[in-house]
Amino acid sequence: MKQLKGRDLLGTADLSTAEITGLLKLARQLKTKELEIECNKVLGLLFYKASTRTRVSFTVAMYNLGGQVIDLNPSVTQVGRGEPIEDTARVLDRYLDILAIRTFAQADLETFAKYAEIPIINALTDLEHPCQILADLMTVEECFGSLQGQTLTYLGDGNNMAHSLLLGGALTGLNIRIAAPEGYEPKSEIVRQAREIAGGRSEIVVTQDPVAAVEGAQVIYTDVWASMGQEDSAEGRIPLFQSYQVNQKLINHADSEAIILHCLPAHRGEEITIEAIESDRSRVWDQAENRMHAQQALMASLLGWD
Ligand code: CP
Ligand code: NVA
Repeated sequence: MKQLKGRDLLGTADLSTAEITGLLKLARQLKTKELEIECNKVLGLLFYKASTRTRVSFTVAMYNLGGQVIDLNPSVTQVGRGEPIEDTARVLDRYLDILAIRTFAQADLETFAKYAEIPIINALTDLEHPCQILADLMTVEECFGSLQGQTLTYLGDGNNMAHSLLLGGALTGLNIRIAAPEGYEPKSEIVRQAREIAGGRSEIVVTQDPVAAVEGAQVIYTDVWASMGQEDSAEGRIPLFQSYQVNQKLINHADSEAIILHCLPAHRGEEITIEAIESDRSRVWDQAENRMHAQQALMASLLGWD
């Protein structure tokens, strides 16, 4: 994956189809230990929002690569006291080899990338979560042997996860159906971009009908109804989203071999029932594990491992 050396991953569509295929292959080789990569580099984690999976999986992935990790917690660094991104980015660039950022505005991430030469990774913004999508695609491929021609239905808020799934699906030939309540659909420019990328080779559907969206799907995917930063509207969303809950009644409309994914953290009883997340169709723990393998492959590639 030499072509990824020195690049940033700010959004899913920064990667080509071939690059995603290559990263998934490398991630599989790392998972099975067919391959071990040693690159003694330093990763910075700059997270303005909470995280369990992303924080820990990036940390362990870098340790597995023989590198070091520095947690740049905004509450104990000057970034939390308003030091401009332009200044922070140029300084961190002199110390670190690679930097993963979790923040609110995509524009802030882009400013970091503009002022730092080192690879910058989107570890979640309000717009996208591309690292999660690499793990999701890896999990679907593990379960079905291929992505092309399978259908993934995402139910719930048209949020960062919905956006990255649309783009990741379009790039890999995975059909994507998004079922969201009126007013909570994914951004129209992302849907347009996904359709352009798919070019008619795979299905990109946005609907308000959860039952039609799940019909015959191989993958049922959901996420919280209120994302980080939207806590104030969480209560009000519950009645609007109720018919999008992943429960047995809805699962009955999917393919009989369908799997259930959730990026986690999950709110049991809201977007997914306990029965669904704990069922034998659930692959959420494999999906969470795959974050580590996918990000190890990603970092090795951005750092120019060969
Ligand atoms: N899925 C995910 O990104 O989880 P965290 O918020 O715990 O990192
Ligand atoms: N949509 C969720 C994803 C969490 C991994 C959020 O942004 O909070």
